[in-house]
Amino acid sequence: MMYDVVPVLLILCTIGRKALSNLQESDPKCRYRVHFPNASWHTAYDVCAGENKTLAKISSQIEIQLVDLVLLDVEKLIEDLEAKTYLQGVWIEGFRRSSNNETMQQNCRSLDPTFNIVTAAEDDILCLYYNYTDKKFYADNCSTDRAFLCESMTTDLENCMMNNGITSVVSDRKNGICELRSTPNLTLEECKSGCLKDSRCYAIEHLSSSCKDLMYMYKQCSFGRHTLFINHKGLFIYHPTLPSPADAKPFKEWCPEITQEIIQEKIENIQKNLTVNKKETNQYIRTLTSAPDERQSAKNIGIVGVTVISVVFGVIMLSDCINVVRGIQNKCKRSEDS
Ligand SMILES: *[C@@H]1O[C@H](CO)[C@@H](O)[C@H](O)[C@H]1NC(C)=O
Ligand SMILES: *[C@@H]1O[C@H](CO)[C@@H](O)[C@H](O)[C@H]1NC(C)=O
Ligand SMILES: *[C@@H]1O[C@H](CO)[C@@H](O)[C@H](O)[C@H]1NC(C)=O
Ligand SMILES: *[C@@H]1O[C@H](CO)[C@@H](O)[C@H](O)[C@H]1NC(C)=O
Ligand SMILES: *[C@@H]1O[C@H](CO)[C@@H](O)[C@H](O)[C@H]1NC(C)=O
Ligand SMILES: *[C@@H]1O[C@H](CO)[C@@H](O)[C@H](O)[C@H]1NC(C)=O
Ligand SMILES: *[C@@H]1O[C@H](CO)[C@@H](O)[C@H](O)[C@H]1NC(C)=O
Repeated sequence: MMYDVVPVLLILCTIGRKALSNLQESDPKCRYRVHFPNASWHTAYDVCAGENKTLAKISSQIEIQLVDLVLLDVEKLIEDLEAKTYLQGVWIEGFRRSSNNETMQQNCRSLDPTFNIVTAAEDDILCLYYNYTDKKFYADNCSTDRAFLCESMTTDLENCMMNNGITSVVSDRKNGICELRSTPNLTLEECKSGCLKDSRCYAIEHLSSSCKDLMYMYKQCSFGRHTLFINHKGLFIYHPTLPSPADAKPFKEWCPEITQEIIQEKIENIQKNLTVNKKETNQYIRTLTSAPDERQSAKNIGIVGVTVISVVFGVIMLSDCINVVRGIQNKCKRSEDS
């Protein structure tokens, strides 16, 4: 879950901005992935999680720049689809409460307060999106459908070319992915790196040492019947079918507010658990020791016992006493008589 800006920063500085306009295998840009079509914030969150990613955590200026470069690349790729407007706002990680203007990320930390967030809806809890055109953050109704940006959870560099089943990339064999050029006698690696360096190239088909570069075009092209998998740039993912809208996890569960009621509930829980613990402990101790029996019947039995013993001893002692008294009386009688 740890994400550190430093490695990205280092890579950015080492490669330099110029080189970044061309994509390379394991480019830092490849840690981000734009997803289409539009979805609600919660659905977006689930789709990212399904890929072992999170919604992009943008928390520094350097990350904004990196995201801008990713969106620029994606825009170039889909230029001929006239789909640029979709990129104007992409869901990212974070919420905002209108009642106190507090921002919150999933780790329950607030966003850099220097980021100016434009409020775009009336609800109390709003979700954040980034507008690539005006470089601003917006807080909007979480149910609104938008494109979204996922980000890798680790600092490992991702492969920029990914291999996907054709049915998870396009909904129809007739689609806007057309041939850009064909080059004979190239290895797979040469074919891939050629595509990465060309901003128009979206995917490759490498068949018997011949390399075919594919790009998006505003016309119908089709894949051959034999094509089951496609090697494509992982900068964006188009979902022919999006997962059904996720049940929104209540915001209290993301980052519970510490209100007086919550504190009281916690105290009651602790007290309950302590009582339960006490009972359990006492039962356990009883199985190990013979505890004093507090019942009245037992006390009564004891009292009777003591009484009986006392009476027996008493009778013996009394009879003895009587003998002594009699003896004294007899003595006295005798002395009186004599
Ligand atoms: C996500 O990570 C888990 C555990 O590391 C792994 O089993 C799973 O295949 C990964 N899923 C994807 C889509 O990469
Ligand atoms: C993004 O910003 C541009 C320029 O300010 C604006 O025209 C557009 O409506 C904004 N889009 C969204 C989705 O906020
Ligand atoms: C929240 O921010 C808006 C705009 O910056 C401001 O008008 C409003 O008073 C703020 N609300 C609170 C509760 O601080
Ligand atoms: C937010 O979106 C939901 C679902 O589309 C809708 O019911 C609600 O009225 C919207 N809120 C605002 C303030 O537009
Ligand atoms: C996606 O959402 C944006 C802004 O919310 C909108 O301009 C665009 O038309 C939507 N695209 C689709 C395919 O619904
Ligand atoms: C492919 O390259 C090899 C050597 O690199 C060469 O011998 C062969 O003729 C080439 N084939 C074509 C079709 O260009
Ligand atoms: C009390 O016990 C329940 C169930 O054993 C547990 O889920 C809960 O977290 C406990 N509460 C506290 C405050 O320890």
